[in-house]
Amino acid sequence: MSAPNLFQEEFKPSKLTNADIINQRRVINGFDDGLMQISPLKHPWAYDHFNNMIKNTWVPQEVPMQSDINMWCDTSSLTDQERRVYSRSLAFVSNLDGLQTNNLACNIIRHITSPEVVLAIARQTFEEALHVQSYATLVEAMQLDPEEIYGLYRRDQELYEKNQIVLRAVNKIADPLFKTGTFENDQMFLEACIGNIVLEGIYFFSAFLIFYNLRRNNKMQGSGEMIQFINRDEDMHLRLFTDITNAIKEEQPELWTDAFKARITQNIKDAVEMEATWGESCIGTGILGLTPDLLKEYIQFVGDVRLQSIGLPKIWNSKNPFAWIDEYTQGSMIEVNFFEGTVREYQTGTLEW
Ligand SMILES: [Fe+2]
Ligand SMILES: [Fe+2]
Repeated sequence: MSAPNLFQEEFKPSKLTNADIINQRRVINGFDDGLMQISPLKHPWAYDHFNNMIKNTWVPQEVPMQSDINMWCDTSSLTDQERRVYSRSLAFVSNLDGLQTNNLACNIIRHITSPEVVLAIARQTFEEALHVQSYATLVEAMQLDPEEIYGLYRRDQELYEKNQIVLRAVNKIADPLFKTGTFENDQMFLEACIGNIVLEGIYFFSAFLIFYNLRRNNKMQGSGEMIQFINRDEDMHLRLFTDITNAIKEEQPELWTDAFKARITQNIKDAVEMEATWGESCIGTGILGLTPDLLKEYIQFVGDVRLQSIGLPKIWNSKNPFAWIDEYTQGSMIEVNFFEGTVREYQTGTLEW
């Protein structure tokens, strides 16, 4: 049963109080009059994420790019392999954020019946659009050929196939007639939410690693900094969709069957393998100390973290082979504030990331 639309019927006075409505509120299949009453809250974690995302507000135009422009224009500063790895990684992340912007706006948000969760996803959608703009900023700053970035998937079979797999996963609920409210469809929606965790929390990670590894070697610092801002946003998105997933599991425990758990585990296993294969195809035999074996171990480590975040057991028990990456991915150690140039953190409120 999908959420009732109160405005399709004639006016009938109701004794339902606001508190009754909020008590019945659910992430999906709840009572929803479409009026976004968010006080009081049923899902306070969503409102916390919304507020934290606002504190993280940034714009790509303010990330300094001059050193990257100089480096890219200087033919001796980067090897052909480094240029190829940079462009291919940029091509993939730009494709990924583009499809995620549409996925949230078209596939996900219309089924959510908790206004505070809608609020958080609306903000997330804005951030994905900002990421799309970030990649365009890099393309323009470096005067890269847009055909080589946005059009790469039309010539690069591996990129084409990777995009196709991601699109197939997010488009399972793209049918405009798809509705939550049946056991099968609710499982499909929950699988789509976990698909978001896979997209945000696995598919970006070899590219992030590649950008950070370049930055660590004093190459393309501005791009690496922009990726840090994007990565911090993605971390919030991951937390949001992990909480959405766990809330739906709690509100509709019948969906979390052994067969469904096996299906989700397989999805995450496939995603880790695909991401490791993709990363390996980008770096070849290795680049600046980043080897295919270490990259694979890292992606497996990330996959285990995602499994555990939704209550599933680890598969790989891999360790994070890159102790240095915390410096780039943990908010308390973010190095540069683009508003002031030297300060270590850049939230507009208190730092909670
Ligand atoms: Fe994004
Ligand atoms: Fe995201």
